[in-house]
Amino acid sequence: MKGVVLAGGLGTRLYPLTKITNKHLLPVYDKPMVLYALDTVRKSGITEVMIVCGREHAGHFMHFLGSGKEYGVTLSYAIQDKDNGGIADALLYAEDFADRNSIAVILGDNIFEDDFTHVIASFESGAMVFFKKVPDPERFGVPVFDKSGKKLLSIEEKPKKPRSEYAQTGFYLYDFNIFSYIRKLKPSPRGELEITDANNLYLRRGELYFSIIKGKWYDTGTFDSLLVASQAIARRNKKNDARP
Ligand code: G1P
Repeated sequence: MKGVVLAGGLGTRLYPLTKITNKHLLPVYDKPMVLYALDTVRKSGITEVMIVCGREHAGHFMHFLGSGKEYGVTLSYAIQDKDNGGIADALLYAEDFADRNSIAVILGDNIFEDDFTHVIASFESGAMVFFKKVPDPERFGVPVFDKSGKKLLSIEEKPKKPRSEYAQTGFYLYDFNIFSYIRKLKPSPRGELEITDANNLYLRRGELYFSIIKGKWYDTGTFDSLLVASQAIARRNKKNDARP
C-alpha cells in the first residue's frame, strides 16, 4: 500500500510560528513534526509516500526531506492550490499517485506510538478509522455509538457537546472510492471539505470500520498540544536512552 501525508493548511492556530515556516516543519522536541508521521508510515511497512502541502513554504519540505532516502521512504510531492480547502480537498491531489489502489492517509500533525502494520495487512475495502479516548473530544471528530457502545452511528466534526469520549485520530485507510466520495462533498461551516464527511459517506454505505488504538496519540495543531507532545517525546526519548 502507498501512503499519503497531508501537510496542508495555513496553521493559523500556531501563528506567528507559521509565518516562518509550515506548521508541519515546526519542532516537536528534537525533530520537525512531519518526521513523526513519516516514521509511523514507514514503521507500518509503507515506503512509497506522497506529501501534499500548501503553496506557502512548499520549498521548505523539499529542501528538508529531499527524496526521502534518508528517512527510509521514496517521496513524491503535490501542491494543494487552496490554502483553506481542507484535509479531504488535499487528499484529492493524491488520486493519480494512488493509481486505483487502497491508500493509507496520515495527517502531518499527528504523532502515534503504535504502527499500523497489522491493520494494513488485513484491510480489503471500504474505509477504516482509528479512535482514541481523550479528555477534550470537542477539539476533534467525535464518534457517536449506539447504546451497546459497539455500533458506530456517525462521526461529528468538533461537536460542542461531544456524544462520546473518543477522538477520531488522523490515520485512515481508504479504498479507491475515497476520491469519488470526496468529489460529492460540500464545504463545511468552516469552508473546508471535511474528512469526517467522507468517512460518514462510507458509514452510511456500511463500509466504515473502526478500531480503538492502544498506544499514545498526540495532535500537535495548537500551542498547548504542541507543548504537551514535545514534553512527552522528551520523556520517552530519555526513558529509551536510559535502557541498558
Ligand atoms: C482533523 C479532523 C478531525 C480529527 C483531527 C485529528 O481536524 O478534521 O476529525 O479528529 O484532524 O487530528 P483539524 O486538525 O483539521 O482541526
